[in-house]
Amino acid sequence: MQGGLFDEPSEFLPSQEEDLQRYKTLTELYEATKTCKKCRLGETRKNYVFGDGNEHAKVVLVGEAPGADEDEQGLPFVGRSGQLLNNILAAIKFERRDVYICNIIKSRPPNNRNPEPDEIAACLPYLHRQLELIRPKIILALGKVAANTLLENNLAMQAMRGKVHKWRGIDLVVTYHPAALLRNPNWKRFCWEDVQLLRRIYDEKYAD
Ligand code: URA
Repeated sequence: MQGGLFDEPSEFLPSQEEDLQRYKTLTELYEATKTCKKCRLGETRKNYVFGDGNEHAKVVLVGEAPGADEDEQGLPFVGRSGQLLNNILAAIKFERRDVYICNIIKSRPPNNRNPEPDEIAACLPYLHRQLELIRPKIILALGKVAANTLLENNLAMQAMRGKVHKWRGIDLVVTYHPAALLRNPNWKRFCWEDVQLLRRIYDEKYAD
C-alpha cells in the first residue's frame, strides 16, 4: 500500500528543535534518536550515548563527547575521566544518582578527536530537548567545548570559569574537563573552586 501524503518517510529522524517538542519524556526522546545517522559519527559509533542519571535532577553535567569506554558501554563518563568526575562530585557531597550526566554530542568521534562543528550542530537539538525536559536548576559545563557550545562563544576556559552564567535562564557554571585535569593536575584547585561555587549556589538557591 502506498504511504499517505503526510506519512513520515521510514528514515525520518527528528532534527529541528520544533520536531523534538513532540517527545515528552527522556525515554521517548532516546527511543526516537538512538539510531541517528545525521552525521558521520552515526556510522562509526558502537553505542549511542544519550545520557544517564536522575531525570528530575536539579544539576546536569554536560561533557564533550563519549570516549572509547563510553562508546563500549553506552553510558557517559564511565572511563578514567568518569572516575575522576565521581570523585569531584563526592567532594561536594553529590552522588551520581543525584545528577544527570550527558554530553554535547552523543556518538564517539574516532580516535577521540574534537567534535566537528557540523557534528555539534546535528546533535545539539537533542541536548537542548534533554535540558528542556529535565529543567535543571544548575548546569555544569565540563571543558571548553561544552562551555563554548552552550554559551555560544569562543572564550578561553580562564575567561569562563569561576562565575555564574545563564543558559536559557538556568544557572551555568564552567569548569575544566576531567580529562584535562588528568593531564594537568595543577588545575584541580581551579576545578575545586568552581564546584564549590556550584555547591554554594545549590545550597543557597535550590536546596529543598
Ligand atoms: N569525556 C566526555 O566528555 N564525555 C564522556 O562521556 C567521557 C569522556
